[in-house]
Amino acid sequence: MAPKINTIGVLTSGGDAPGMNAAIRAVVRRAISQGMQVKGIYQGYSRLLNEEITDLNARSVSDTIAKGGTILYTARCHEFRSEEGQKAAAEICRKHGIEGLVVIGGDGSFAGARKLAEQGICTIGVPGTIDLDIACTEYTIGFDTAVNTAMDAIDKVRDTSTSHERCSIIEVMGRNAGYIALWCGIANGAEDVLLPETYDYDEQQLITNIINNRKRGKKHHIIVNAEGIGHSSSMARRIEAATGVETRATILGHMQRGGSPTCRDRVYGSMMGAYAADLLAEGKSNRVVGFYHGDYVDFDIQEALEMQKELPDYMVRVSKALSI
Ligand code: ADP
Ligand code: F6P
Repeated sequence: MAPKINTIGVLTSGGDAPGMNAAIRAVVRRAISQGMQVKGIYQGYSRLLNEEITDLNARSVSDTIAKGGTILYTARCHEFRSEEGQKAAAEICRKHGIEGLVVIGGDGSFAGARKLAEQGICTIGVPGTIDLDIACTEYTIGFDTAVNTAMDAIDKVRDTSTSHERCSIIEVMGRNAGYIALWCGIANGAEDVLLPETYDYDEQQLITNIINNRKRGKKHHIIVNAEGIGHSSSMARRIEAATGVETRATILGHMQRGGSPTCRDRVYGSMMGAYAADLLAEGKSNRVVGFYHGDYVDFDIQEALEMQKELPDYMVRVSKALSI
């Protein structure tokens, strides 16, 4: 069946995530196989407004599936938040014949996609963020690579922490979301995990835990701290002063966003990117792709943005129980 639209664009927006290239590649190749043409837009909404747009063919995305980052680059764009900016962006799309747009990013990028849909451009969001914090989907592209990178790093810190019989505070990414911290907490056998969602940061309790652990004969004390909780370095100084146990802070930072994507991120990226191209071929707009109850599905963007996601309580309780 002929596609409902002829030309689509694709961009990546917000924080990058491993697997975004797999998604771009899938958008391009699936769209071409459906009879559509594809244009790549550099640096998200930012360079859309500067008309930095290029034709993409099947060869343009060769040798990209194993690459970290995003070949289209990414950015945050203040100008696009205004209605004026959104109207200008829609005009630029029309000028370049772009009738549909795939936006790979997080909730903020989807809010922008919804605005473009209101301006008459068919838009589809694909969830790409290491934070796993998009409510309409059980998986977001990049999480698996990031959490494995963090897990490997924490294993290494744990070795030296044990040798020196220290306490280590390891800060992982997640300004508003504790998924990376929670998964690492379980995977690395951390003694404490600090999660932004639980609002229960209690330094005195941490100090008591460290002292009790020493009495129980534990050689190290690993605290996985989600970025959103606060400054790991000053926390380490206070904890060392209160416990007498040497304490060091390690901030893993942006290394968690880089690296070659895992198999899981390549496959989810490919499936979600292809699904987005299929939706545009059907003339759909204002949708977000998700993975839900074992299937690739799509939701209205506004509905998706209104959904709430909570950390799985059972996982939080198990993580605590396993740290004894
Ligand atoms: P993420 O997509 O990872 O959540 P951001 O929240 O930084 O990242 O959003 C990425 C970009 O999406 C912003 O820089 C801005 O250009 C656009 N954006 C975010 N929120 C809105 C909004 N409410 N209206 C229009 N554009 C938005
Ligand atoms: O990609 C998501 C995320 O890593 C958050 O966990 C973090 O708060 C944010 O991006 C930081 O991004 P940047 O340093 O690029 O502003």
